[in-house]
Amino acid sequence: MLIDFTLNGKPVTVDAPSDITLLDLLRDHLNMTGAKEGCAVGECGACSVIMDGRLVNSCLVLAPQAGGSEILTIEGIHAPDGGPNDLQDNFITYGAVQCGICIPGMVIAGEALLMKTLEPTRQEIRVALAGNLCRCTGYQQIVDAIEATAVQRKIARG
Ligand code: FES
Ligand code: FES
Repeated sequence: MLIDFTLNGKPVTVDAPSDITLLDLLRDHLNMTGAKEGCAVGECGACSVIMDGRLVNSCLVLAPQAGGSEILTIEGIHAPDGGPNDLQDNFITYGAVQCGICIPGMVIAGEALLMKTLEPTRQEIRVALAGNLCRCTGYQQIVDAIEATAVQRKIARG
């Protein structure tokens, strides 16, 4: 079936089976391999994307459900020059990246939170990351990176 949606700000039409997940649609039919398949059952958050402004596990969304929606993946998160944006820079600065498997989902979850508030408490950041598992960094540095980005964006926006 043909599925039309907006992917990282650009309209796309893709011909794909109707019984695959959004994660497989992105990875196998659109070559967007930033979202990872960790568990495939909605437990790990490695497949996180933002769908119509809401953080979702793309392994739990059927591809046809993407029809007419706006999807933001990790490939759509970058600075204007194509390099890392401020949040991604802070993940590096704060040592929040080790193996990297969880990181696309963590960055997406962080961006979803920062779209809603630039004054999150550390507890709110932890809640925002509750669906994203990391077996490497212990979360502290990831929370630090998101907190620092919120402060910087708030200052930049005056
Ligand atoms: S792969 Fe989707 S939540 Fe784990
Ligand atoms: S950096 Fe390895 S799972 Fe998070």
